[in-house]
Amino acid sequence: MEVVIESGAQAIAVLVADAVERLLAAKPEAVLGLATGSSPLAIYDEVTRRYADGRVSFARARAFMLDEYVGLPGDHPERYRNVIERDVASRVDFAPGAVQGPDGNAEDIPAACEAYEAAIARAGGVDLQLLGIGTDGHIGFNEPGSSLASRTRIKTLTAQTRADNARFFDGDIDAVPRHCLTQGLATIMSARHLVLVATGTGKAEAVHQLVEGAVSAMWPATVMQHHPHVTVLVDEAAASRLTLRAYYREIYANKPPWQRI
Ligand code: F6R
Repeated sequence: MEVVIESGAQAIAVLVADAVERLLAAKPEAVLGLATGSSPLAIYDEVTRRYADGRVSFARARAFMLDEYVGLPGDHPERYRNVIERDVASRVDFAPGAVQGPDGNAEDIPAACEAYEAAIARAGGVDLQLLGIGTDGHIGFNEPGSSLASRTRIKTLTAQTRADNARFFDGDIDAVPRHCLTQGLATIMSARHLVLVATGTGKAEAVHQLVEGAVSAMWPATVMQHHPHVTVLVDEAAASRLTLRAYYREIYANKPPWQRI
């Protein structure tokens, strides 16, 4: 697991956009994994700028979303399908239908989850998965207690996550859905490169557990310690509880130039 401590969200976005640009140059039909929430917004802005400058194209790429609320009306602005469309998909040149997400309004939820897993597998799996992290250590919406072997399924959001996300619903926690569909921890672990970004002191404990804690379903992101290619990009505040942060800085500062994130 590589830990990169940067000055802020924009510096992080540049590094992640570099990785996306390199991936798409080498493999134009690459499969991306997209996260919602605040954490990836600077990255989406940066890749959109690069697309406008003609540096990167998503025309042959595909993308899979991590998760979706259950039961929000199709046109609700906070439905993740709409959020992803607004934040990134509609701003670059993805082909129609190239971005998919789990169907939170499906009549048969288990069948929709199975179909989603099958679609990811048919696409050849995810090459680069973007991730944020919840203050309670969730990735996707795999809340504490999630099976480390889980696949896409319905989950109940914790009170903490609903409070954290109330800011997207005019501060009204009751407007935040109770249920979601999320790629499971094993689904996320099947991606070839996991890129997790976190900023702010609110994420410091979750980042500490992710990097330095014992692997446990109580901090679901710790499962990433079992993945062979993980990049964790954090600002100073999110890094503030990392015991070995001086060592992570030293590793990154002395990295061979050919070795990218
Ligand atoms: C969103 C997702 C979540 C968020 C996490 C952090 O698709 O999967 O795991 O990444 O809740 O959210 P922000 O970035 O808003 O702090």
